[in-house]
Amino acid sequence: MSIGSGIPGLGVEVARVPEAVRRRVDAWAREGLTVALVPTMGALHEGHRTLIRAARSGADRVVVSIFVNPRQFAPNEDLATYPRTEIEDLAALTDEGADLAWVPAPDVVYPPGFETTVRAGSLGEPLEGLHRPGFFDGVATVVAKLFALVRPHRAYFGEKDYQQLLVVARMAVDLDLGVQVVPVPTVREADGLAMSSRNVLLSAADRAVAPVLHRTLSRMAARLADGASEPAAEIAWGREKLLAAGFSAVDYLEVRDPRTLAPVARAGVAARILAAVRLGPVRLIDNLPVG
Ligand code: PAJ
Repeated sequence: MSIGSGIPGLGVEVARVPEAVRRRVDAWAREGLTVALVPTMGALHEGHRTLIRAARSGADRVVVSIFVNPRQFAPNEDLATYPRTEIEDLAALTDEGADLAWVPAPDVVYPPGFETTVRAGSLGEPLEGLHRPGFFDGVATVVAKLFALVRPHRAYFGEKDYQQLLVVARMAVDLDLGVQVVPVPTVREADGLAMSSRNVLLSAADRAVAPVLHRTLSRMAARLADGASEPAAEIAWGREKLLAAGFSAVDYLEVRDPRTLAPVARAGVAARILAAVRLGPVRLIDNLPVG
């Protein structure tokens, strides 16, 4: 028997077809239990585990989905090389006391004839949306399907993917999905690098450069919070700092309104700094609040 056989003591129960999820959540509903969902693409790390712990403290039962969603990868992106570690992931879910793992194959989520797309709207247009066309439609579509299948009371999303968090929270309201979207602060390595499944793809040399991203955002955030300088000056400083440190490109480095993502032109108002950079074959994103 492998991990995740569903036999008590051997590991987390694994569902690979929608009927198995429905059966389980229907039973929980009959018992009056609350359900939390943690959507993931697997290759689980401490950031994901933190979401699962938050979910456990926020509901009676926790469902974790593991699905590398092809619809949120553009043809030139890293779908093929995205890390896949299912055995370790199921062990982590067992460890964290998740109640159900939803681990569908791509053609289970998108069977032949699948037609419908949820469009993310204006929150999905800037920043990641400009650099990854179709990305947020892919995210919104798969998350809408997860919400419809699991019908959770709450769903947990990391601030690491801040724009995704805003897009999903908006969608849940707009579509009357009745799911409370709960944000969880970014979990970082000791040197400040935000944990990410893609970090394992960094070379040793690039791994040494990577924490400069967080350090740069922190300095910008501190100076903007002080009112010591204006966003435009900080952005110019930050770009130069990142390129000098060895990042091969800065896709964007922006100071934005934390709710609308509209540009923020002056210091002293609520803001979020958001960035995406390239380091070798890896694209890193991070963000920090100002103040
Ligand atoms: P994935 O990158 O696996 O992330 C799953 C969840 O973990 C997201 O909510 C993400 O923000 C959160 N997360 C990742 N790294 C984190 C960190 N260092 N600290 C806190 N939270 C972190 O995001 C996705 O998958 C997909 O787009 C998904 C929502 C599953 C839809 O396919």
